[in-house]
Amino acid sequence: MEPNEPLERPRRNRRTAGLRRLVRETRLHPSDFVWPVFVVDGEGERQPIEAMPGCERHSPDVLVEEARKAADLGISAVALFPAVDASLKDSVASESHRPDGLLQRAVRRLKLALPELVVITDVAMDPYSSDGHDGLLRDGQILNDESLPILAAMAVSQADAGADLVAPSDMLDGRVACIRDALDHAGHSDVGILSYAVKYASAFYGPFRSALDSAPREGDKRTYQMDPANRREAMREVTLDIQEGADIVMVKPALAYLDIIDDVAAEVDVPVAAYHVSGEYAMVHAAGQRGWIDADAVMQECLLSIKRAGADIIFTYAAREVAAAL
Ligand code: PBG
Repeated sequence: MEPNEPLERPRRNRRTAGLRRLVRETRLHPSDFVWPVFVVDGEGERQPIEAMPGCERHSPDVLVEEARKAADLGISAVALFPAVDASLKDSVASESHRPDGLLQRAVRRLKLALPELVVITDVAMDPYSSDGHDGLLRDGQILNDESLPILAAMAVSQADAGADLVAPSDMLDGRVACIRDALDHAGHSDVGILSYAVKYASAFYGPFRSALDSAPREGDKRTYQMDPANRREAMREVTLDIQEGADIVMVKPALAYLDIIDDVAAEVDVPVAAYHVSGEYAMVHAAGQRGWIDADAVMQECLLSIKRAGADIIFTYAAREVAAAL
């Protein structure tokens, strides 16, 4: 051997596209994706969302059309978020469990048109609450136990409309057990719970909150969403949610929390989801629009990293463009 010859040559496995494909450890697939969509009342509505280029609020009829395209691309599921008219918001989120509410109507239409597409609904008060919080607010405090029956009623109403999975995103204590119990008593023992088990009090949710006009009117969400500084606490939240009956657990946001996704995936035996949230999506497009990065390539790299860290399921606003490019 010559003095400077390397002992190993990892580059051999990278020589051709065929070899690289053969040794590739992680692959994105359209079926990994959940496409989050915003729903607005009306007919034929397509309202662009400024801070989320390529995303729109759709009325239920347009939603069916757009969801069909997603299903045709092989995307497994949609997650629905209603943009509720300000006149319907109140402090107890009454609109959230009205059988004929916007979300319930959208779910019914989707399940009728596309029965195979998995429909996931968010369980949290914020889009319906005049306070913009995920629980009841009294004297500046979020009331945990008093909020649970509202979340349970919301989940049952979503299941009545046909949701396949209900997804509590509120981060109150004990809500998974309460929702499971309510679903079972309402005859919905087949409806699953995808819990936002580890949801951080993140600044990455900004574009989402402006899309739904759901930002807290006062204060912030730090008494219920997790402190971004904490890692060990994530497993505590996950363990509790699984004990309470969660069928799938989620970590959110995704890219700044890959260590958490890794921890959770290593520990649990239920599927792990991760949410590539609005701010993560917006950053890629903002830099892409300035020509500073190749947005499509960066988006794919982000999602691949989330899967490599251990996520089985990825919520992403880029689901359709990435699925089409795979
Ligand atoms: C509502 C909810 C939020 C998101 C999903 N469900 C916002 C929040 O907690 O304030 C954020 C999603 C995103 O930013 O893409 N509880």
